[in-house]
Amino acid sequence: MLKKDSTFFSKLLAQQTPEYLWVGCSDSRVPANEIIGLLPGELFVHRNIANVISYNDFNCLSVLQYAVDHLKVKHIIVCGHYGCGGVLAAMRDLRLGLVDNWLRGIQETYAFYQEELASLKSPQERENRFCEINVFRQVCHLQQTTIIRDAWKRGQELSLHGCIYSIADGLMRDLDMTLSSVEDPIPSKPPEAKLKL
Ligand code: CO
Repeated sequence: MLKKDSTFFSKLLAQQTPEYLWVGCSDSRVPANEIIGLLPGELFVHRNIANVISYNDFNCLSVLQYAVDHLKVKHIIVCGHYGCGGVLAAMRDLRLGLVDNWLRGIQETYAFYQEELASLKSPQERENRFCEINVFRQVCHLQQTTIIRDAWKRGQELSLHGCIYSIADGLMRDLDMTLSSVEDPIPSKPPEAKLKL
């Protein structure tokens, strides 16, 4: 860093003004900054297993509140990933320990979408689609939080996005469900992820 810009760290010390909040999975293969190519100082990050946004998780809500109310981020990206161990454990009803409780909400989502998923031919397709559905659900949760609704009510510029990353090819796909105000309708069905190059 210093070779490229000798003032990099002194500038970083002086301010933190990220425009983006990333909510992603803890998976070691899904590093936020590297995936979207942003430098330290440009991205505020919250990660947990299976990128869950839960109304009673004060860790996630505190990150969200600080990012929206104080840092005034303009975009919140919920990014899942295909082959997510947390999502698959919920789908397969695995017993892993305490984390099963964390994943309980995803199991409920799976029960809700099981019929739709059953129409897909291969287990791989079902797993991939359910990873997309999980992102959709988490963006819906995000949109329902008081933090987001209050920010929109006072006219703050803020967009929510759902994306999914593929470890297989290193590319991020967009679920095309950007929400920028209370009036923006949530898609009635979870949208399919598309590559935007
Ligand atoms: Co994961």
